[in-house]
Amino acid sequence: MAQSTTSAYLRESVIRYLEICENLGQREMLLSPETVEALQKFQPQADETNPVSSRVSASMQRQPSLAIRADEKAQDARDVSSVSMESRKLDGLSKAAGLEVIRQEILSNRRLPELFRRAQNMVFGTGNTDARIMFIGEAPGADEDRWGEPFVGAAGKLLDKMIAAMGLERKDVYICNVVKYRPDMPEGSRGNRKPTPEELAQCRPYVMQQIAVIRPEVIVGLGATALEGLLDQPRVSITRLRGSWRELDGIPLMPTFHPAYLLHNDSISEKRKVWEDLLQVMEKTGMPISEKQLRFFKNKG
Ligand code: URA
Repeated sequence: MAQSTTSAYLRESVIRYLEICENLGQREMLLSPETVEALQKFQPQADETNPVSSRVSASMQRQPSLAIRADEKAQDARDVSSVSMESRKLDGLSKAAGLEVIRQEILSNRRLPELFRRAQNMVFGTGNTDARIMFIGEAPGADEDRWGEPFVGAAGKLLDKMIAAMGLERKDVYICNVVKYRPDMPEGSRGNRKPTPEELAQCRPYVMQQIAVIRPEVIVGLGATALEGLLDQPRVSITRLRGSWRELDGIPLMPTFHPAYLLHNDSISEKRKVWEDLLQVMEKTGMPISEKQLRFFKNKG
């Protein structure tokens, strides 16, 4: 192929790709300054007769919505993977394929390894993609980081018991976190720390996309930090919020205490509160509730 023909072919391919992105609802794209420069060289001439390039060129001038940003931020971003992916991009895909697209988006987001330098594994989520109930925690801890799966440590064991008390198994529900990597601890120190607002904000789009794919009947938000991430609110009082329904993306959301809180505060009254929240979830999803389940904590404490 002659060089001019190759250039024209590449130009048409890029223009077609931009058209597809625009049709999918993408309104912004981060490109390296080199790419912007190269594209600008390809601006069609006034006498351009090719219908595709004329149309796109006109559309780009009319609609700065698909503007190419070559500002400092774009330089900083260095790759197209940091483009925020709209849920619509997942339309038409099976749930498994949609989740795989999200997983790959997370893995190719280069900002995340910069934020979570010590994390060993990305902890995506696990369970039934057709789950009616989705449990969402805050962030992986050391155990989850090691195994690449959410809620496999001590708090996870208690979550399993809570799920079993509802008459379900882990494989019946979907479990994930707002934050997809373990927040770094200083070298040599143990334990886990609360994710920063930046860490929550960077990961929030992904959990929202997971929700959009799974479309559960009910979401259970575990603990204040998960709720801060999900509701995009800087501060949440879980004591005030728990037990009353909220809505997230049109889906009923039940805030409740994090199982780790119950591990540290073993009082029957706090356990009873969580159980009452879960009973509300069972009721909302039309699950059968036995007399025994109804009375679980009634005669205790
Ligand atoms: N705590 C969380 O919020 N998520 C986990 O996966 C484990 C502990």
